[in-house]
Amino acid sequence: MFNESVVVITGGGSGIGRATALAFGRHGARVVIGNRNASTGEETVAAIRATGGTALFVPTDVTQPVAVRALIDTTVATFGRLDIAFNNAGWFGPVAPLADQDEREFDPVFDTNVRGTFLCMKYELAQMLKQGQGIIINNASTTGARNSTVGVALYAAAKAAVISLTRSAAMEYAAQGVRINAVAPGRIATGMLAKAGGGNPERFAAVIPMRRLGTPEEVAEAVLWLASPAASFVTGQVLGVDGGYLAS
Ligand code: NAI
Repeated sequence: MFNESVVVITGGGSGIGRATALAFGRHGARVVIGNRNASTGEETVAAIRATGGTALFVPTDVTQPVAVRALIDTTVATFGRLDIAFNNAGWFGPVAPLADQDEREFDPVFDTNVRGTFLCMKYELAQMLKQGQGIIINNASTTGARNSTVGVALYAAAKAAVISLTRSAAMEYAAQGVRINAVAPGRIATGMLAKAGGGNPERFAAVIPMRRLGTPEEVAEAVLWLASPAASFVTGQVLGVDGGYLAS
C-alpha cells in the first residue's frame, strides 16, 4: 500500500515507533528512523533490511532544532521527498502527584513531547508545502484527553498540548494538501508503560473496558490507516487506540 512512500518516524527505536516502522517497511515504504538512542534505532533499521525493506537511521534528539532539521534534510537528500511523518518520540517522567513533582522534571517532559512535536512539524511542513502534499501523524495519548491517572499531571498537560498543536496545524494546512492527525494510545505494552507501572504494567489493564493492555502493533495499524488514502478526508482528528478507555 505504501510502496516507495518515504516515511520518517521519530522514537522508532522501540515500542510503538518500532512496530510502526516495521509495519510501514512490510508495506514497501522507505523508512527513516530518527531516534536519540543510536543502538536501538539501528536495530529497527536492521530488522527492516532483514526482510528486504529499505531503511535509514539518522541520530536525532527531537528537542534540538538542528537535529530535527538534519533529519528532514537527510531524508530528502537520500530519498528525494517526505510523504509521511510519525512524530512519536515521547518522554513520560517519574510518576508523582503534582505537589511532589521535582520541578526539574518539567523541561524533559515538555521538551520531548511538546517542543519535539512542534519542531518536527515545523521542518516536516516546510518540505511538505514545497511538495504540495504530505501526511503527519502525532503520537498523543489518552492522558491528553482524560485526567484520571494520579501522578502524571506534567505528561498529561504535555500530551494535551500535542493534541492542540495537531488541531491548529491541521486547520492551518488543510487547504495546502497536508493532512495532520494524532493517535491517542491508551495503555500499550511497551517499555514506557512498564516503567510507569513500576514493573507491573498489567495493573493498568483493570481500567481498560477490554480488560487488557494494547499492543504496539495495534497502534501501528491505526497510524497506517491515518496515513493511507482510505483516510483522505480525515484531518485534525485524535484517534483513540485504547480498548474503550476514553469512552468509559
Ligand atoms: P518507548 O519508551 O518504547 O519509546 C519511546 C522512544 O522515543 C524510544 O525509542 C526513545 O529512544 C525515543 N526518544 C525519547 N526521547 C527522545 C528524543 N528526545 N529524541 C528522539 N527520540 C527520543 O515507549 P512507547 O510507549 O513506544 O512510546 C512511544 C510514544 O507513545 C510516546 O510519545 C508515548 O508518550 C506515547 N504513548 C505511549 C503509551 C503507552 O501506553 N505505552 C500510551 C500513550 C502514548
